[in-house]
Amino acid sequence: MTNDKISVLHFPVLDSTNRFALEIKDFSHLTTVVADRQTAGRGRMGRSFFSPESGLYMSVILQPEKIKCPLSLCTPGAALAVRQALENEGIRGIKIKWVNDLLLNGKKVCGILTQSQTENGKISKIVIGIGINLCKGEYDFPEDIKDRADWIGFHGDKLNLAKNIAAELNRYICSDNSDICTEYNSYLAYIGESTTVTDYADNNRKVSGTVLGADENCFLKIKTEDGNERLISSGEIG
Ligand code: BTN
Repeated sequence: MTNDKISVLHFPVLDSTNRFALEIKDFSHLTTVVADRQTAGRGRMGRSFFSPESGLYMSVILQPEKIKCPLSLCTPGAALAVRQALENEGIRGIKIKWVNDLLLNGKKVCGILTQSQTENGKISKIVIGIGINLCKGEYDFPEDIKDRADWIGFHGDKLNLAKNIAAELNRYICSDNSDICTEYNSYLAYIGESTTVTDYADNNRKVSGTVLGADENCFLKIKTEDGNERLISSGEIG
């Protein structure tokens, strides 16, 4: 784990904390960009992320040379970091929906979007974007997500939570002795359940079967209906 100081840049509104974090030149390892709301929050697969004032929207900048795990484990590590920081605040029962969503009582309460920047063919910056639905306030989810999303009911200090998440990220991703995949499995949702997964690495093919867990690369292991085991490196459940 590094001893770097977590510096927080806090804004009332940004289009996207990830966009801002990717563009700033003046940053150090663990610089954390926080916005009270976003006007163009980015989600996975080019989707948007609903970002009203009652959430936490943050992007942690990591210097690649300080990362100790394979870069492909940054997103699973981030899921563990958010889960742990929320548990430290007394929020229990969070599960991870492979690969980058956090669920509470089966509903999505947090999404994670990892992006990187390359300079001269080398990754120069990793940005871990985290959006958490904190408390309902006056906001209703849009129609298309209202049955699948929920608020965690957090009314504490947002900036303190953001700092704690950045510290947990540093602990999971930048220390020699963290075993991300083992811990990831212990919080993984849907183990033993039948589901359908969209396999992005195989032309978005729909794969149906039983979730067995995540392997040592945090790829999803599925037992398909014909009895075979299939590993999915990139995709989405449901
Ligand atoms: C997803 O669920 O598809 C990922 C959502 C990631 C949203 C967060 S909010 C903070 C950061 N800034 C963004 O524009 N996106 C991420």
